[in-house]
Amino acid sequence: MAAKITPEYIDLLNQAVEREFKVSVQYFLQHAKMEKIIRKTIPENILLDKTTYDAVGKFLREIAIQEMKHTASIMERIYYLGGQATTKAGKPIVGNSISEFAKLGVEAEEEALTLYRKIIDTSGQMGDWETRELFEKIYSEEEKHLFKFQEYTSFQDEKEEPSKVPLPEWRKIYTDDYFALLNKAVAAEITGVIQYTNQHEKASFLELRMKNTPLEAITETNKANVVSKILKDIFMAEMEHLEKISERIYLLDGEATTEPDPLPVVGETAMDFLTLDHALESSAIALYRQIIAEALKRGDTTTRRMFEDIIIQEEDHFWTFDDFVR
Ligand SMILES: [Fe+2]
Ligand SMILES: [Fe+2]
Ligand SMILES: [Fe+2]
Ligand SMILES: [Fe+2]
Repeated sequence: MAAKITPEYIDLLNQAVEREFKVSVQYFLQHAKMEKIIRKTIPENILLDKTTYDAVGKFLREIAIQEMKHTASIMERIYYLGGQATTKAGKPIVGNSISEFAKLGVEAEEEALTLYRKIIDTSGQMGDWETRELFEKIYSEEEKHLFKFQEYTSFQDEKEEPSKVPLPEWRKIYTDDYFALLNKAVAAEITGVIQYTNQHEKASFLELRMKNTPLEAITETNKANVVSKILKDIFMAEMEHLEKISERIYLLDGEATTEPDPLPVVGETAMDFLTLDHALESSAIALYRQIIAEALKRGDTTTRRMFEDIIIQEEDHFWTFDDFVR
């Protein structure tokens, strides 16, 4: 007999989704910040091609992607159990040095192990073996993350001396209101990642329920299935945008935001997803145009060109959704 799924049980699994998203964004932003930190450090980097900093930057990115996969597989499971996966994400804390990243990582991973032990217990008692199996697998990966972060908690970061050189003239264009504008893009990208990942999982569940026409049966495909694949490619593109934009902000000595804006919305059907995503891409395009104009006005060529590349991809996303929405 199938396990009886209660709303409390779905809530418990959604707590896991919230924290997986949180750490995924946290590690991703820390990885983006490494570019900046690497430049600050002195002897090791000048003499060596590869440094501890590169190694840590690399593993942060790898772990961030693993956490994203955890998020997706837990969401998938929630949809299979008839629940709705949350779009809420815990608030990431980024920090400023390797030892800080490591300490925050240890905290986050310990929190995961505690919660997942509880989930493994509960799903076992309920006879929900699939969920238990999923969390046992995730648990062992979190344990590896914990050990990895523990290695670096006592890492001696290079001391950051206050600069003796006054801020050169060309850097005066990077004002707080400019960072606030760039952070609207970071927030929009986080929204995209959350919304599309959730919809991707929901669509792959809908797919199973919807093989109805003979053509769909023969081709073993249907609208939800097509949409699910499209969304996967697009959310990966948004992850890259998030990485590039936040890296740029950190490099300019700004702080990247960690919260989505607008709030992600999932919808009920594949058609809802497309309509919502179409609107999200539209607002991103409008925002990025505004950023490009502002960067041009300030003479910030690097940022302008970066957004010119990104906006081409957003337009592409827009037209992809547009094909369906018409
Ligand atoms: Fe995880
Ligand atoms: Fe982890
Ligand atoms: Fe994007
Ligand atoms: Fe996009």
